Amino acid sequence: MNEETPHRRRPRYAGKYPRRFDQKYKELEGNADTIARVLASGKTPAGRHVPIMVDEILEVLDPRPGQVCVDCTLGFGGHARRLLERILPTGHLIGLDADPLEISKTESALHEEGFISSAFTLRRSNFAGIHVALLGSGFSGADLVLADLGVSSMQLDNPQRGFTWKSTGPLDMRMNPSKGASAAQWLLKISTESLQEILSENSDEPNAVVLASKLAGRHLETTTDLADAIREALASEPQEEIEKAVRRVFQAVRIAVNEEFTALDTLLRHLPACLNPGGRVAIMSFHSGEDRRVKKSFQAGLRDGAYSSICKDVIRAGAAECRANPRSTAAKLRWAVRAV
Ligand SMILES: C[S@@+](CC[C@H](N)C(=O)[O-])C[C@H]1O[C@@H](n2cnc3c(N)ncnc32)[C@H](O)[C@@H]1O
Repeated sequence: MNEETPHRRRPRYAGKYPRRFDQKYKELEGNADTIARVLASGKTPAGRHVPIMVDEILEVLDPRPGQVCVDCTLGFGGHARRLLERILPTGHLIGLDADPLEISKTESALHEEGFISSAFTLRRSNFAGIHVALLGSGFSGADLVLADLGVSSMQLDNPQRGFTWKSTGPLDMRMNPSKGASAAQWLLKISTESLQEILSENSDEPNAVVLASKLAGRHLETTTDLADAIREALASEPQEEIEKAVRRVFQAVRIAVNEEFTALDTLLRHLPACLNPGGRVAIMSFHSGEDRRVKKSFQAGLRDGAYSSICKDVIRAGAAECRANPRSTAAKLRWAVRAV
C-alpha cells in the first residue's frame, strides 16, 4: 500500500442500498451498474445532475456547427455536452459557473470523454459577468446562450454544501464557498425586518413575521439547527405546513445568500448586447420570481426591438420526463431571438 495515501475503510450501511450521501461511494466513484439502477428508479445518482428538458432546449436553440455558445450554468455539463456535439467541430462553448468545486470536476470529465481543449473554455464566473467572460474568451458575441438556473443536484445532495435540510451539514449554501457570507453568518447579521421582507419576497412565506422574529440574529451552525428552529417557531401549525415552511425558508435564504435575483437581472440586462444578430437564448427557471423576471425582460426586449421573437408560452417538461426525474416538474423554459 502507498504510505502517503493510507487506506480508508468505506462507510458501511445497513440494508440493501445506502441512504447517506457519504455512503453512496459506488455512485460517487461512477460505478456504471449502480448509476443505471439509481436512474431507473427515478432518482439522481450522488455526485451527478440529470439535465432537464434537453430535447426542448436543443429544439429552441437549434445549435449548428461553428456557432459560439455560452452555457451560463455549466454544472455537471449535461446540457454542455449535447450543445458541444452539435456545434463541433468548428464551434466553441464557453461554460460559466460560480462554483469552483464542481467546475473543475466537469472540466476533467469533459477531457476524459474526449472533448478537445480547444472546443471549450470554462470559467469560474458569475453569469452576471457574461459580457466580460465573452470578451475574455476572445469573442465579441454569442450565437447561443443557455441558463439553467438554481443549484445542481451535486450541490443540493451534498450535506457539506449546506443546501439541504434533509441531512446535517454546515449551514453554508454558497455556490462559491470562498466568497461572501455563509448562510449561518448571514442569518446572524440580518435584521428581523429585512429577513421578514426576504422570506415574503423570495418564497411567499406566509409565516414570515413569526419566522423572522425567531430566526434573525440567531447563531445557527448547521442545516439541522435551522430546520429545527423553524419547526420550533411553528410548533402549533400542522406538520405538513411546518415541513413546507422548512423548504421555503431554505430556498429564500439560498436565494438571498447567493444574490440570485440580482445576478439574473444583470444577465437579462446584458443579454441583448452579448448575442450576435439572430442569436438565441434559452432560460430555464425553477422559481416563479425568476420566471417572472425572464418573461418581463423578454417582453420588454420584443417591444423595444432588441428581440425579434420570444416564446408565447412557457415550455414545461413532458409527463415522461417528470416521472423519470421529479426535479423537472418545476422547470419553466423560455426563449428569445436577438433581432438581426
Ligand atoms: C441547475 S445547475 C445546472 C446544471 C447543468 N445545466 C447540467 O446539465 O449539469 C445550475 C448551476 O448554475 C450555477 N449557478 C447558479 N447561479 C449562478 C450564477 N449567478 N453564475 C454562475 N453560475 C451559477 C450553480 O453553481 C450550478 O452549478
